[in-house]
Amino acid sequence: MIVTLKGILNADQGRGKINRHIYGHFSEHLGRCIYEGIWVGEDSSIPNTNGIRNDVVKALKNIKIPVLRWPGGCFADEYHWKDGIGPKENRKRMINTHWGGVVENNHFGTHEFMELCAQLECEPYINGNVGSGTVQEMSEWVEYLTFGGVSPMSELRAQNGRKEPWSVTYFGVGNENWGCGGNMRPEYYADLYRRYQTYVRNYDGNKIHRIACGPNVDDYNWMEVLMREAGRFMDAITLHYYTLPNDNWQDKGAATGFDENAWFSTLKKALRMDELITRHSTIMDKYDPEGRVGLIVDEWGTWYNVEPGTNPGFLYQQNTIRDALVAGLTFNIFHKHSGRVRMANIAQTVNVLQAVILTEGEKMILTPTYHVFDMYKVHQDAESLDLALETGSYRMGGEEIPAVTATASRDAAGNIHISFCNLQHQAEGKVELALRGLVSGDVAITGTTLTGDKWDAHNTFDQPENVKPRTFDDFAEEDGKLAVTLPPMSVTTLKLAVK
Ligand code: AHR
Repeated sequence: MIVTLKGILNADQGRGKINRHIYGHFSEHLGRCIYEGIWVGEDSSIPNTNGIRNDVVKALKNIKIPVLRWPGGCFADEYHWKDGIGPKENRKRMINTHWGGVVENNHFGTHEFMELCAQLECEPYINGNVGSGTVQEMSEWVEYLTFGGVSPMSELRAQNGRKEPWSVTYFGVGNENWGCGGNMRPEYYADLYRRYQTYVRNYDGNKIHRIACGPNVDDYNWMEVLMREAGRFMDAITLHYYTLPNDNWQDKGAATGFDENAWFSTLKKALRMDELITRHSTIMDKYDPEGRVGLIVDEWGTWYNVEPGTNPGFLYQQNTIRDALVAGLTFNIFHKHSGRVRMANIAQTVNVLQAVILTEGEKMILTPTYHVFDMYKVHQDAESLDLALETGSYRMGGEEIPAVTATASRDAAGNIHISFCNLQHQAEGKVELALRGLVSGDVAITGTTLTGDKWDAHNTFDQPENVKPRTFDDFAEEDGKLAVTLPPMSVTTLKLAVK
């Protein structure tokens, strides 16, 4: 039996701005993310501008990528930035010990990353090295990037072809220092953080947000210690949470060809983000009741077994309508917590984990996750609106999750967007929303939906448009009541345009 889920949208009740940085990305020197996925080099036959793929830049600009994190990840804590500047033929080679043991030629370094951000018109988020780097090294990187006067680092930058300093707004002091970034205890890292961040200077009016390495998933003690010992020295702290269908890192589950239990368990696990943010925020509230320190979820997304036949260290996986649902429901959670969550970065942009783009030589496809970023870009910097909706229940094997989750916002022009995720793999989602704070007939409604013909529907290089957004019109508005019928396993956005 299909139950109609009732709710109310208070269109005149704002709940604060949805920071566009929630739609941020993460690109690491891992597998084919940077090399091949983004950087092909100036001499490549793949169309590029200064070595960076034109097709990828165009696609990312279309979804209004606001911020990009680099160079890692685990790679960040073994990266020595001076190896990645100067003439490419002189750049030191290194072993990428975390990711496949491949040789990194350092052809993509600081200048190339800043060029990428310029082409994307997005803000850079640079992650410094605490695990194997020195305070001096981190301090000099900031000087090299942002100091405009006369100094050893600004002169070195000029020698390498860039006279003007760059603007860098986000700087991470280490990554996963509880694990790949040095296996530290929180007390030890808190002290190191205090020391390293001291030398992350603000030069020439450039204001850097200093970002501390936060907890892994539900390590509430890490959050407690960091906020207590170092909260006043940071602008933000991170959280990492990946969604695995199975709780087994040796056999996480497949990206395609999975069964309905894996569909359900993946969505259930993705929904855990709400609990994690809630509980970490409670600890942050204790030490920072004014909400000055932001929570940055700078690694999130699905993590499956790699595609058969690919390098296990490259983390290459397909992306289906299930990933689209994970993205949609995660954004709905981020919007709910938009007061504390100031940024999030999906892992990772191209060819790695829950990528929005996959490439194969000169070919490029957009994944279902990409389309959700596209459909949700209307929420960037919009005012989150009060939306109370019965979620219904979707049951499998004695477990229960919401059938539908939703979010709403009002953009600068006054248009309202409501996004729904119907998590049910077989059932439609029937929703009836009372529209409060709007006069009936004041708006023109249009819709877009993304769904698949099966629960692992995905795009391939042969069928790149198998899963793509379509016009949606299964709704009716009358006397201030909006009735919507959502297709099974779908992400839908309605636009209520002011007339
Ligand atoms: O995104 C892949 C890896 O996951 C990152 O390098 C690391 O920070 C995390 O464990």
